Amino acid sequence: MKHHSIIELIERKRDSGVLRPEELQWIIAEYTADSLPDYQMSSLLMAIYINGFNPDELAAWTEAMLRSGEILDLDHISAPKGDKHSTGGVGDKISIPLAPMVAACGVAVPMMSGRGLGHTGGTLDKLESIPGFRTRLDKDEFVRTVQKHGLVLGGQSETMAPADRRIYALRDSTGTVPSLPLIASSIMSKKLAEGIDGLVLDVKTGSGAFMKDEPSARALAETMVGIGAAHGTRVVATLTAMDQPLGVAVGNANEIAESFDVLEGDGPDDVVELTYSLGADMLVLGGVAADRDEARSRLEGVVASGAAMEKLQEVIAALGSNPAATENRLLLPTVPEKYELLATTEGVVTKCDARDIGVAGVRLGAGREKKEDDVDHGVSINVLAKVGDRVSAGDPLAAIEYREHSRLESALPLLERAWEIGDRASFPQLIIGHVS
Ligand code: URA
Repeated sequence: MKHHSIIELIERKRDSGVLRPEELQWIIAEYTADSLPDYQMSSLLMAIYINGFNPDELAAWTEAMLRSGEILDLDHISAPKGDKHSTGGVGDKISIPLAPMVAACGVAVPMMSGRGLGHTGGTLDKLESIPGFRTRLDKDEFVRTVQKHGLVLGGQSETMAPADRRIYALRDSTGTVPSLPLIASSIMSKKLAEGIDGLVLDVKTGSGAFMKDEPSARALAETMVGIGAAHGTRVVATLTAMDQPLGVAVGNANEIAESFDVLEGDGPDDVVELTYSLGADMLVLGGVAADRDEARSRLEGVVASGAAMEKLQEVIAALGSNPAATENRLLLPTVPEKYELLATTEGVVTKCDARDIGVAGVRLGAGREKKEDDVDHGVSINVLAKVGDRVSAGDPLAAIEYREHSRLESALPLLERAWEIGDRASFPQLIIGHVS
C-alpha cells in the first residue's frame, strides 16, 4: 500500500477537505497494524468529528474498518441470520432477553456486543455479571456456538473489526463519540463482519442518547440503512426515546436480573414493549414470520413455554459457565450499602433524566471513567419513579446500591437534579418512528 503523510491528511480533514478512499484505507491499515500512534488518530478523529465525511468517504472508511479483520462466513448455517444493535442508552438491556427469544423462534443470532461507552452501558459488561460468563471467544468458538445453538453472545474477537475495537476505546477517552459518521461506521463495520443477512437497529434520541435530537437520530438511521443496502444486507431501524432510562434497572447485575424477568414473562412495560417490537422486526426480516402480529405471538409463545430462557441457559452452559444464576438471582453480584433518593414534594414526575442517571451510574462504578477502569457489577440504580408517575413527598425516586461512600457522594448531585416534579406530564412515547 502506498505511503501517505498522516500530518497532511490530518491537516486536510481539519481544513474541511476530502480524503480519498485509498488514503482512508491506509489510515485504518496503519492504525490496526500499530504503525499510527493514538495521538495522531485522536487528532484525525476530532477533525472528522468536527468536519464529518461525505458519503464516499464514509463508505470507504466503513469498508476499511470492516476489512481490518476477518469477516465471518456463516453461509453453511441454513437458518436466517440476524442481529440487533442499539446506538447506546441508559438501562438498555434489550439485547439480553431479545437474542434468546429470537433464536428460539428460528433466526440464528451471532451477537457481538460492546462495552459501555461514555454514560451508556454495554451488553458485554452486563453479561459479565453472570458469574463465570465468558465474553472472550475466538472466531471458531463463536461460529461453532451459533451453528450448534442458533445463538452466541460474545465480545468482539481480536480478529473481527479490530479497527473498531481500538477506535471505539480511543473515542471514549477523546470526546469524539457523538459523531454521525463515527457511530455509523463503528456499528456497521462490526455488524457487517458478523456475516448476517439482516440487521435491526435501535437508534436512540434524547438526553441519554448520543444523538440528542430527532433529526440527527433519523439522519444516523438513514445513513446506517444506506450502508447496509450498499453492502447487500437488509437493515431496518427504529427510532426510540432515550430521555429517561429504559426499565427500572440501571447498572449491570440488576439489568441482568431485569432481563431474566422479561424472559420469564415479567419485566417493566417499556422494556417488554421494545424487546417485542425489535424482536418482531428480526423475525419478519429473517422470514420466519409473515408480519409483525404473527412475529409477536411467536415471541410470546417462546417466553410462555420457557423455550427462550432455556436457549439462554443452553448457551451459557455451552460457553462453559454455570446457568444457575438464571434461576437463583442471589448468585448475581451485590454490594453492601443502600441509599434511597426521596421526592421532596408532591406531584407528577416531569423529568427523569437518562444522561444524569447514566453518569451517576458511572460514578458509582457501573461504568468506566478511564479506559482501564474495572466495572463494579453489583452497584446499581433502580429507577422507581418515571415520567408521568404521581409521587408524594417522601416517596422513593430511586434505590441505590453502592460500595464506597465517596462514590455515592459524587453521584448524588446528578441524581438529585435528574428528577423534576411538576403538575402534569404527557405520557412519553417510546417508539418514535421507523426507517427502512
Ligand atoms: N455503539 C457503537 O457500537 N459504536 C458507536 O460508536 C456508538 C455506539
